[in-house]
Amino acid sequence: MSADVRREPLFTFANARKAVQNPAEAVRHVRQRLATRFQRLRYDDYREFYLETTKSGVDEDPAAAVGPAELWDEMRRWQHEFLVDETGLDQEDYLLDLGCGVLRGGIPLIDYLESGHYTGMDISADALAKGREFVIEHGLEAKDPTLIQNDDLRFREPALDGVEADIVWAQSVLTHLPPEDVRELLANVNRVLAPGGRFYATIYESDERIIERRNGTGFEYPLATLRKWAHEHDLRAQPVACDHPNDLDMVVFEAREAALADKSFKMEGEASSMSASGQEVTR
Ligand SMILES: C[S@@+](CC[C@H](N)C(=O)[O-])C[C@H]1O[C@@H](n2cnc3c(N)ncnc32)[C@H](O)[C@@H]1O
Repeated sequence: MSADVRREPLFTFANARKAVQNPAEAVRHVRQRLATRFQRLRYDDYREFYLETTKSGVDEDPAAAVGPAELWDEMRRWQHEFLVDETGLDQEDYLLDLGCGVLRGGIPLIDYLESGHYTGMDISADALAKGREFVIEHGLEAKDPTLIQNDDLRFREPALDGVEADIVWAQSVLTHLPPEDVRELLANVNRVLAPGGRFYATIYESDERIIERRNGTGFEYPLATLRKWAHEHDLRAQPVACDHPNDLDMVVFEAREAALADKSFKMEGEASSMSASGQEVTR
């Protein structure tokens, strides 16, 4: 990994507090972390390891493969509500759901959007295969969603030709991307954004350094780092209030020209953020 990445400390007061509040959950969590780390030792390549973990998760329980199984319904509802109510996603808009997984969020979005306006993309062929099954189960084939398996984040897949998304959405995806992948994504996302389009991504926000979580598949990023990388590709990054069910943070990226044209924008570093639709929010 090229960027300066620090391993999450073994002990944090926040984790200790959670363990005291719920010892059974803490034991389960530690077991799961140890199992994942043990698995990781078997792979040199992070991506290979990640794909294998996703595959076994999808085979075992698709709900648990994309996050805490008990949050499946809430995460599904929240994605739809956030996109429609907060970003203003309209039925005739085009959405690119990057890292769509098994379509936990995708199913109600396919249902909501006009036919052919939903594109889902994921690195895991296993997650996409399960997502296709869900499309059929929900009777949504007529909505003609495009589901694409990608190998990198350069958006060169032929099925993306001509895609101009009003919104690119990456829910719980940057949280799993190592720094080189986040940089590749920010260098190329403009290829699939419509003029004035916005790219929303949930993140784990860290204070100063990039942190690799001890569960083996999680990364935390400082906002300043994301801003710097975004700036290198003429994008502007702003935090967004999002009330995430699993306590993630959110950032919106958009082309700098468009951002600068919006007079309500504050200069970088000021102590306010934006609501998803562009209203200022005090953090
Ligand atoms: C935690 S799941 C979230 C899935 C979905 N966004 C949701 O909220 O249900 C993360 C997803 O990101 C996908 N992913 C990870 N790295 C990726 C990459 N480089 N390109 C595309 N998808 C990726 C994984 O395969 C997985 O399906």
